[in-house]
Amino acid sequence: MKRSTEIGTDILRAANELRNGELVAIPTETVYGLAGNALERESVIKIFEAKNRPQFDPLIVHTYASSEFEKYADFDPRILNWIDQLSPGPITYILKKKTVIPDLVTSGHDTVGLRIPRHPMTLELLKSLDFPLAAPSANPFGYVSPTRASHVKDQLDGRLPYILDGGDAEVGIESTIIDLSGERPAVLRLGGFDLSELEKVFEQKLDDIRLSSSQPNAPGMLHSHYAPGVQLSKLPIAELKEQFPEKHIGALRFSTYSEELPQEAQIILSESGSITEAAQRLFMCLRQLDKTNWDVVSVEFAPEKGLGLAINDRLTRATHQQ
Ligand code: TXA
Ligand code: MG
Repeated sequence: MKRSTEIGTDILRAANELRNGELVAIPTETVYGLAGNALERESVIKIFEAKNRPQFDPLIVHTYASSEFEKYADFDPRILNWIDQLSPGPITYILKKKTVIPDLVTSGHDTVGLRIPRHPMTLELLKSLDFPLAAPSANPFGYVSPTRASHVKDQLDGRLPYILDGGDAEVGIESTIIDLSGERPAVLRLGGFDLSELEKVFEQKLDDIRLSSSQPNAPGMLHSHYAPGVQLSKLPIAELKEQFPEKHIGALRFSTYSEELPQEAQIILSESGSITEAAQRLFMCLRQLDKTNWDVVSVEFAPEKGLGLAINDRLTRATHQQ
């Protein structure tokens, strides 16, 4: 039998496991990552295997300061002005990669995603290492991202020795991905950083190339993703009741209970109507759906502004039929 995964707050232990080529789950402000030495192919292979992740989907490389970026990427130093205003924080920067980053990390692309996560334990861990950490979200491929240590253990137990417990993720939704490798900055994935705030720092509208072709630009952005085991639907409750009279219908709602179902059949993202809280709770609520006996869940979307855009992006993928 595989050794079961331990959860703890021992940063030295985490560092030693990583130095030995093992994987460690790390807390970040967005979601927990499944980390390994980004410069060692063997560790990176372990990440793909532990997640069952296809190798066409590149990994983000985490480091503690923008002064480290020049080791791993080539870029115009003027962009550090933007990066330093935004970091640490829920953003990933796509830059031209240097050869120290194994091709496996970037799935053969000539760019690498670099990110400085805003979590004190992980920043301390990164400072104590002499290599950066490749880390995708610490969930099996295609499933909901983990926002607390126990979520990682629930799904990846035995596949890594240690989970560094940094409490509940503060933002709850993965980083916003900005491509800085082209002529103009462009958004590849909506995420935990409000786009309009980003545009203030960049002092320009950002090109949005998420949906410009059938081929997802951020290679992991498949149409169906973040899918819990339960069937999620965009249809309103009344329509689901009509279509599936024999089935247990549930609802995932933004802030208010619907009159059309008993309250026990509904999960609310934020009772106070806060978009920030809804983002924080989103993945946990999607996990909760798997613990119910509901057959079909009617999903209400968030208001289309700020983090609501990123929430709705995840909900759209979660409702997409395989
Ligand atoms: O918040 C986050 O970004 C979390 C935490 C752990 O940092 N990480 C995360 O990783 O969400 P992951 O692997 O679940 O999603 C990363 C996505 C990939 O699916 C891919 O689309 C994109 O980042 N990506 C990574 N490197 C890229 C590159 N060179 N070019 C384009 N997209 C890239
Ligand atoms: Mg992921």
